[in-house]
Amino acid sequence: MKPAGSVLISELEIQRRVAEMGAQISEDYKGRSLAVVGILKGSFIFIADLIRHIDSSIPVEVEFITVNSYGSGTASSGELRMDRNIEISLDGKDVLLVEDIVDSGLTLQGVRDLLKTQKTRSVRIAALIEKKSKRRYPLTLDYTGFHIPDVFVVGYGLDLDQQYRNLKEIHILNAQ
Ligand code: PRP
Repeated sequence: MKPAGSVLISELEIQRRVAEMGAQISEDYKGRSLAVVGILKGSFIFIADLIRHIDSSIPVEVEFITVNSYGSGTASSGELRMDRNIEISLDGKDVLLVEDIVDSGLTLQGVRDLLKTQKTRSVRIAALIEKKSKRRYPLTLDYTGFHIPDVFVVGYGLDLDQQYRNLKEIHILNAQ
C-alpha cells in the first residue's frame, strides 16, 4: 500500500543523518556505557539503525517501552496509554531515550516522568523528527535528526492506523 503523498525525507537523507547522529552519540559517550530506551512502536526502525552507528567500544543495552497517544487517526488523543513498561533497572545508568517523532511532546514528557522513579545517572533524548510548531510540553532534545513543518508523516516506523511503517522514506500523507 502506497500513501497518497510526496516523499519529504529520502532513504539516503535518513541514512546519512542517522549515521551522523550515531557518530555524535559515540563521541559524547566515549568511555561510558549506554542504556538505550526505545519508545514503541514508532521508534523500532530508527533505533535499529541508530544503535548500529554507535561505536562498538561503547557497551550498549537496549530496552523498550510501549506508549500510545494517537489511537487511530492523525491527531494526538492527548492521553497517554502505557502498554509495556521498562523491565530492567536503569539505576545509575546513562539513558538515551529514543523517539521517532516529537509532536506535542506528551509521550516523551510521560516517559521522562516515569524515569524519575529510577535513579538514572543521566537521561538524554534522541528523536529522528521534531515538529516544533506543535509542541505543548517543553522538552529539550539532545539529538534531533530533522525539523519538519506541521504535516502528518508516515514511513520509517511511523504509521497511520498501523500502516506504512515499512516504507524506507518519510512521506507526507495528504488529506484524502
Ligand atoms: C506517535 C509517535 C510518538 C508520539 C509523538 O506515537 O511515535 O511516540 O506519537 O506525539 P506526541 O509528541 O504528541 O506525544 P503513537 O501514539 O502514534 O504510537 P506508535 O509509536 O505506536 O505509532
